[in-house]
Amino acid sequence: MKTLAFLSSQWRLRTVLTRKCWTVRNSNEHSTCKRTRTTSSSVPVSCNSVKQAAKQRRPVRLICVGDIHGQWDEEDEMALRSLKPDVALFVGDYGDEDVRITRRIADLADDVSFAVGTVFGNHDAFFTASNGGCRRAPYDKSTTCRVSDQIEMLRCYDVSYRSVSFDNIPFSVCGGRSFSAGGPYWKYKTFFRDFVGVFNLKHSINKMIQAVMTAENDGVVFLSHNGPTELGDKPWDPCGKDWGEVPGGDFGDADLRVAIEEARNLGKRVPLVVFGHMHKTLFKGSGNRTMVKTEPDRNTGFETLMLNTAIFPRHTVDPVTRRSLRNFHLVQIGEGGYVDFAEEIWVTSDGKIRESTSLYSGLAMSGSSSAAAVEVHAETR
Ligand SMILES: [Fe+2]
Ligand SMILES: [Fe+2]
Repeated sequence: MKTLAFLSSQWRLRTVLTRKCWTVRNSNEHSTCKRTRTTSSSVPVSCNSVKQAAKQRRPVRLICVGDIHGQWDEEDEMALRSLKPDVALFVGDYGDEDVRITRRIADLADDVSFAVGTVFGNHDAFFTASNGGCRRAPYDKSTTCRVSDQIEMLRCYDVSYRSVSFDNIPFSVCGGRSFSAGGPYWKYKTFFRDFVGVFNLKHSINKMIQAVMTAENDGVVFLSHNGPTELGDKPWDPCGKDWGEVPGGDFGDADLRVAIEEARNLGKRVPLVVFGHMHKTLFKGSGNRTMVKTEPDRNTGFETLMLNTAIFPRHTVDPVTRRSLRNFHLVQIGEGGYVDFAEEIWVTSDGKIRESTSLYSGLAMSGSSSAAAVEVHAETR
C-alpha cells in the first residue's frame, strides 16, 4: 500500500509526459481510422453504430470476450452478433501473436452495429516481449513484426491507456495495460518502451490516470488484460498466482489499482472492471478460480464488480444436442449506472443461451449483492 500511495502521489508531479520519447506507437497514430469519432482525449475511436447524441440512462448490455487463445471462428462471430450487445469488450490473448484472429476481430468490429473495445494480452506478444519467446518465433523477425501488425489492425478499437466514449452509452471505457503478464515487477522493459511507449510502472500509472481524467462520462468501466491488485493473494483469487513451487501471491496490476482509486478520487462512478489473463481452471486441475469480487464504491455506496472473464477452453459441445457452444460473459449496467447482473453464458452460433451461471446480482443494491457473488463461487470452487 505504501508503494501505491507513493506512486499515486508521484503521478501528480508528472502529469505532463514527454511524448517525443515514444518510439513506435502512440495515440496520434489513430488519426486515419475509418468510421471513428473523436473523444474528449482527442483519440478517434470506433463508434459505428449509434447516431443519437443524447446519452439517456437506460440499461446497457455488455458482452465480454475472455481469453481466446486461438478459439475464435465464424460461429463465435455469429453468436456475438446474435447476442446483440450494446458494447463488446475483448480482454486480449487472442493467440500467440495470431494475426489471423486479430484480423477477424478487426473485420468484425468494422462491420457490426455495436461498439467494440479491445486490449492486448501477454500472449499477443508471445514471440516478441521476452528473450526466450524471441528465440522460438516461428517466423522471420527480420522481415515481419506481428505485434506491430496486430496493433495496426486493432488501432481503431484498442482502448489501452485511453478513455473512450460511445454515443448513447452513458459511461466511458478506460483501458489498462495491454500485454500485461501480471506480477509485482515491471516485466519486458524493452518491449513496453518500443511497442507501447511506456517506460516503467510510474509512467504506466500516469498514462492510465490521464485517460481517466479525460473520460467524458461520470461513469467509467475499466477494461484490461490483467485485473488490479488487492483482489486477494490466494491461488484461487481473481488475480492470484496459481503456478510455481509455492502457489499464491497477488499478481494483479498495481497501475490499474491506482487508476481505479484515482477515478474514485475524481468522483467517477466505477461500476465494472473487466479483465482476463488468470484462467478459471487452476494449474494442474486443482479447482476453479473465484472469477468475481465486489468492493464498495465509496462515492455512491453502490458496488464495483471486478469480473475475470478468462475461461479456457471457451469452446465446448452441448452433450444433448451435440451443438457447439461458445463462452461469453453477459453484463447489464442498469439505469442507475451500476451493474444489474453478470452471467457466464454458453451460447450457440445463433445466439441461444444454453447454459447460464449467475455470477452477480446487484438488483438488490446494497449488502446482499456481495453475498450472492460469494455464494456462487463457494459452489464452483
Ligand atoms: Fe490467457
Ligand atoms: Fe494472459
